[in-house]
Amino acid sequence: MKLLHAIIGLVGVGSALAAPAVDTPTTKRASKFQFVGVNQAGAEFGNKDLPGTLGKQYTWPVRSTIDTLVSKGFNAFRIAFMMERLVPNKLNGALDATYSQALQDIVQYVTSKGAYAIIDPHNFGRYYDKIITDTDGFKTWWTTVAKPFAANDKVIFDTNNEYHDMDQSLVLRLNQAAIDGIRAAGATSQYIFVEGNSWSGAWTWSATNSNLKDLKDASDKIVYEMHQYLDADGSGTNETCVSRTIGAERLRDATAWLKSNGKKAVLGETAGGANAQCLAALTGMLGYMQQNSDVWTGWLWWAGGPWWADYMFSMEPPSGTAYTKVLPSLQPYI
Ligand SMILES: *[C@@H]1O[C@H](CO)[C@@H](O)[C@H](O)[C@H]1NC(C)=O
Repeated sequence: MKLLHAIIGLVGVGSALAAPAVDTPTTKRASKFQFVGVNQAGAEFGNKDLPGTLGKQYTWPVRSTIDTLVSKGFNAFRIAFMMERLVPNKLNGALDATYSQALQDIVQYVTSKGAYAIIDPHNFGRYYDKIITDTDGFKTWWTTVAKPFAANDKVIFDTNNEYHDMDQSLVLRLNQAAIDGIRAAGATSQYIFVEGNSWSGAWTWSATNSNLKDLKDASDKIVYEMHQYLDADGSGTNETCVSRTIGAERLRDATAWLKSNGKKAVLGETAGGANAQCLAALTGMLGYMQQNSDVWTGWLWWAGGPWWADYMFSMEPPSGTAYTKVLPSLQPYI
């Protein structure tokens, strides 16, 4: 999601409430997607205010939310955070003990529910606002970050959120460095989600990111993570969807690219407004993905998180706009 600056400075209460354990999802899932999830926003908030203060600039996902969404059938949670808070000052530095422990705690909680936890450095290919060009440093960053999770095969590593306005060969080299760094940490069994330039958009993927087909992984567990919003400029900032069919239309090129290159993808972010046109566009898109489940492994909604208030796409129970008005229509695709 690109316009996180919009919510900088929000102050809220992110207390993790104790909730009854839900170790096994009780809802029978309707789809065969491998990953069906909800992004969990909060620890990346206040991204212009580093390091920021817990409870003021940023917060962590709420455990009772994970429980509720697991009971709806979701099995993947993409946990956004800032690279600079996890490893301050320099790419080859050490983990910040407190922030790192909080990340490990929520990851442990999610995976103890049998769900996937996706580690999402929500940095747009930048560190302290500068495009990352030090691929060795990025590799080291990833080795440092992956180590605590090396034994947990329900963890998924997402190389970076939405590279954009970067040299295309650099995007390839950064993704490869991340893959190599993660595997060097001994994390050899986990999936790695790689992202592309141009905000990892599915609709521009084949024209922009075709070189990423050359990524190599000794464990052969790369999944291409694409994002797609359904408003006019594809930015996810307008609750109006272009048409009832825009979802499937915007995935068509990428689907052909995946098939011709023998790759698999996940739709790591999508959303649309709580209105009839968007519901048709969203369900049409998810149905199209099911028809092409040889290449589409699943999807994640943008977004849950405790500080969204009345945000048009909020999937936060119990009263988020999407949670109350969109989720019921998505249930057949979970
Ligand atoms: C959202 O998009 C619609 C249709 O394109 C447009 O009429 C409306 O002004 C947009 N709203 C905002 C807040 O930009």
